[in-house]
Amino acid sequence: MRRGAETIFVCNNCGNEFSKWAGQCSACGEWNTLREIKSQKNLKSKSLKIGPNKNVEAINLSKIKITQESGRWQTGIGELDRVLGAGIVPGSVILFAGEPGIGKSTLLTQLIGKSGGLYVAGEESAEQVALRVDRLKLDPRNFEVLETNAIEEVESFFARTQKVFKIAVVDSIQTITAEISQFTGTGVGNFGSVNQIREVTYRLIQLAKGKKMAVIIVGHVTKEGEIAGPKILEHMVDTVLYFEGDKSGELRILRANKNRFGSTEEVGVFKMGEKGLTEMGSGEIDLITSKVDKIGSAVTVVMEGSRPMMVEIQALVTESFSAMPKRVFLGIDYNRGQLLAAVVQKTMGVPLYKCDVFVSVTGGVRLLDTASDLAVVAAIYSSYKEKPMGSKVYVGEVSLLGEIRRVRQMERRQKEARAMGREVATIYSIRELTKSITN
Ligand code: TYD
Ligand code: MG
Repeated sequence: MRRGAETIFVCNNCGNEFSKWAGQCSACGEWNTLREIKSQKNLKSKSLKIGPNKNVEAINLSKIKITQESGRWQTGIGELDRVLGAGIVPGSVILFAGEPGIGKSTLLTQLIGKSGGLYVAGEESAEQVALRVDRLKLDPRNFEVLETNAIEEVESFFARTQKVFKIAVVDSIQTITAEISQFTGTGVGNFGSVNQIREVTYRLIQLAKGKKMAVIIVGHVTKEGEIAGPKILEHMVDTVLYFEGDKSGELRILRANKNRFGSTEEVGVFKMGEKGLTEMGSGEIDLITSKVDKIGSAVTVVMEGSRPMMVEIQALVTESFSAMPKRVFLGIDYNRGQLLAAVVQKTMGVPLYKCDVFVSVTGGVRLLDTASDLAVVAAIYSSYKEKPMGSKVYVGEVSLLGEIRRVRQMERRQKEARAMGREVATIYSIRELTKSITN
């Protein structure tokens, strides 16, 4: 057996390990995410602290008492409960990921304000947390704050305390370190490294299971991968939530990327304001920045889980001076956007091959519902023709041949459009769309 540390390269994005460095991770395709790590794998057998139990027995399932599901509790934040799938399961571990500044600490502070719990503050001082609690007009008595950057301190706190917590928020995983690995008995590597994050997460999971307490781990998503991304711990936790939105706007969307205790279909919608995040029900979500009919704008209703949401799509089509005209899609899948631009060129006779095309969706929403195809096509066409599309709502999936297909839950979309004072356009072919704009 070789002795000493071995050098491996770990992708900050997906956590895969490689023996050689490469500019691009061959597992997930991200660039510049591989980091050199001194692995202590080979030291394992020498210094293992907790050895395997040699007398481990198999358990007959009938002897297992199912307590977890029945203990599920509601947080009182309806939008969060829905995304989680009817509340929080005791002992579960949730990764709460999002860009810095999106509102993670705000929402989780509001959560503890409602249900009571422990706030493990790695980024802020207790005073800073208190300031936010005060600003959000929450009851400070609901908060126990543990200022720390060491998982050992969190563990020793739980070993000593008599208090019982339903929930602990760890803000954030990138600021909590482990000095010594429980597995190898040696150092765990640099602050914020992949190994650190894995080790701390593993130990938080042990705490959650042992105390039957839900643990919410905050993870900052950084595109540059300067600190290890939370992606590497997605497979370790029960639920992965992503908090998204356009930071310059008010709207925030909560999605489940993985959910051991519910579906990943539902989204939660919030509005960031002076007093923190408020929940938005259907019929309240107005992502349309202006009511006037603009050139290059088309409105659609997308379904986010079981909820209809009216969004505006904006397109800008300009003459291109490049041999490779630009195609920029914000909030729309790149391939889907390319496909729709090709349909516009072919079936509407628009020479997009010599145009730059930019398409974006308001409010930082990501379009996952193909029902918005028709609105994308309409917005591109409207910009090219320099004529507004009118106030109608465009709903329909567009096929490669330029056919318009009916989409699911049309009635709910129609109802939502009416609630917002609009009508869904009755358009069954691209030709009808072309006509509707020239008249
Ligand atoms: P925060 O929850 O600290 O973000 P994260 O933890 O994801 O990094 O929120 C940061 C932003 O939210 C900050 O720019 C201030 C703003 N904010 C409000 O607009 N209203 C509020 O009531 C609070 C507490 C924050
Ligand atoms: Mg924060």
